[in-house]
Amino acid sequence: MERASLKKLLSAKDIQKEDINALIQLAAQFYEGFKQDKRQFHHLAKGRLMASLFFEASTRTRFSFEAAMYRLGGEILTLENGASSSVKKGETLSDMGRIVSGYADIIVMRHPEAGSVAEFAKHAHVPVINAGDGPQEHPSQSLLDMFTIWHFQNRLEGLSLGFVGDLKFGRTVNSLVALLSYFPSQTFYFVSHDSLRLSPEKVALLKAAGHTVIESNEMEAIIPYIDVLYMTRVQEERFSSKEAYEKVKDHFILNRNQLGGAKNNISILHPLPRVNEIAEDVDTHPGAQYFNQAEFGVVTRMAILADMLDIVPF
Ligand code: NCD
Repeated sequence: MERASLKKLLSAKDIQKEDINALIQLAAQFYEGFKQDKRQFHHLAKGRLMASLFFEASTRTRFSFEAAMYRLGGEILTLENGASSSVKKGETLSDMGRIVSGYADIIVMRHPEAGSVAEFAKHAHVPVINAGDGPQEHPSQSLLDMFTIWHFQNRLEGLSLGFVGDLKFGRTVNSLVALLSYFPSQTFYFVSHDSLRLSPEKVALLKAAGHTVIESNEMEAIIPYIDVLYMTRVQEERFSSKEAYEKVKDHFILNRNQLGGAKNNISILHPLPRVNEIAEDVDTHPGAQYFNQAEFGVVTRMAILADMLDIVPF
């Protein structure tokens, strides 16, 4: 049976394993096509409109979604600073979703509150993509992270994966761990300050699904064992005070020396922006893939948009 296209992308739960495989294949085809001519897909989304509504800071996510839509030949309506919208006048998110879905064919939205994008999508009648709802989820980032892992490791299962930093508030970790857990036999190393650990419920779910989970507050010791090292920024904006943030920031800083014992084909990822977590001397390490990862955002989001708009060319 043919796979149905995605109708919404609010959470990792909206994606099945077959969707991940299909979207990665599609992103890979766009990636290969880009090598010949980046302009060759510009007819696919002709006449389609994507609305991007951002109520929270973004560079990569908004730009790569907008670049993806333009590369497909579509057009965009953009609200870069949500504070300037009618929400200021008291409009509810669900009303706004209903209205904007009358103007656009697909909507990408980011908002600082957990569950806000689902609330917005409640009465929307076009596909809605969650581009980050507070500390909760960021599934399109996770698809591009999966594409990056597949690209550099040639597989998505049986991996040793190190997650370092803010595992409590980091939404990219939250969604990525969920997607990785669909593939068998993973070993997850979770390294964080005690106050920023992955929730015990999620750890229990991973173990119940048959994966190995090792929690630690020591980064260097795990480096020799891992295939993918996923560094994250401590999410300052989620802390109640500057002092609370100051106490836990800069706890894990990866530098070149610490990579001495790493596997030859280690892939070092980071959703970016980095603050201090990765020293600049790592940038020239052969495993440093975070800038490639950011670039893959365009082809992966082209795949997501093409799938959701039912304009897949291949
Ligand atoms: C991440 C986010 O917004 O959650 N950034 C991104 O989308 N590439 C990670 C972060 O801000 O730390």
